[in-house]
Amino acid sequence: MPGDARQHYERLADTYDDNWAYSPGYVRWMAARIAEALDLQPTDRMADIGCGTGLFAREVADIVVPQHPLQCVDPSAAMLKQIDGFASLLPIQASAEDLAERRVRLPYVPLDAAWMKEAVHHLVDPAGTLAGLATLLAPGGRLLIVMLPASIEYPLFDAALRRYEELQPDPADIARHLTAAGLRTSLTYVEHRLTLDRERYLAMVRARYMSLLSLFSDEEIEAGITEIRARHPEPELSFPDRFAFILGRRDCVPPSPAEAAAPGSAR
Ligand SMILES: C[S@@+](CC[C@H](N)C(=O)[O-])C[C@H]1O[C@@H](n2cnc3c(N)ncnc32)[C@H](O)[C@@H]1O
Repeated sequence: MPGDARQHYERLADTYDDNWAYSPGYVRWMAARIAEALDLQPTDRMADIGCGTGLFAREVADIVVPQHPLQCVDPSAAMLKQIDGFASLLPIQASAEDLAERRVRLPYVPLDAAWMKEAVHHLVDPAGTLAGLATLLAPGGRLLIVMLPASIEYPLFDAALRRYEELQPDPADIARHLTAAGLRTSLTYVEHRLTLDRERYLAMVRARYMSLLSLFSDEEIEAGITEIRARHPEPELSFPDRFAFILGRRDCVPPSPAEAAAPGSAR
């Protein structure tokens, strides 16, 4: 992760969860969508890669009640620190690249299910890193990438929306990377309507709740907030939050006729 993004998360860590404390329904809804898409089972060995503060992992664990600790992987020590004290979550300081290139080994592998929510845009070489992560999957294992679409309808200022569209990877490209990694891949979208008190949302913008906003100076953020206020005089902001769900599955390879007939074969 480039240094400016790293610093961004070190600064944001203490207040990250507060941003969503006013939308508990959203966190639960998203965790349920993740559990459903991955068909999570209590016996699965799981990892949330780029888990941040574990805000969503906590809810997933609450829904699935995993038998193995849910491995929460993130390169940011400050983000991971927020996980302390949750018995079902195992924090592991590493990047997706560390896992993909086997510099760090997870204790519970191969993985039956792994997900990466709103972190894939931080990968320098998404094709290579996703291919490496795919090799960590057990036969039948699933890898889910949750990401924002190529354009968003957030009530942000124009310059931020334009910058977003320049930087955000296209979910279709991510789907192609998973296919190239040998996974059976699908791309779907889910949507949730967020309703937030306007002042709360503006405080989130000022706190740079999206890493994108860390690309703007304090003056630009204040000018952006003035622009948002002028465009949205209403006390509550309501907007669709749409996510691409890219699911890859490692098929169980059926044994070849020769393997099945081999002496000692249990099949
Ligand atoms: C927008 S936050 C999302 C956190 C969490 N998944 C969520 O949805 O609340 C992005 C996270 O990706 C992490 N990250 C950045 N670069 C990464 C990398 N190369 N591999 C894994 N995680 C990374 C950051 O430290 C940060 O915690």
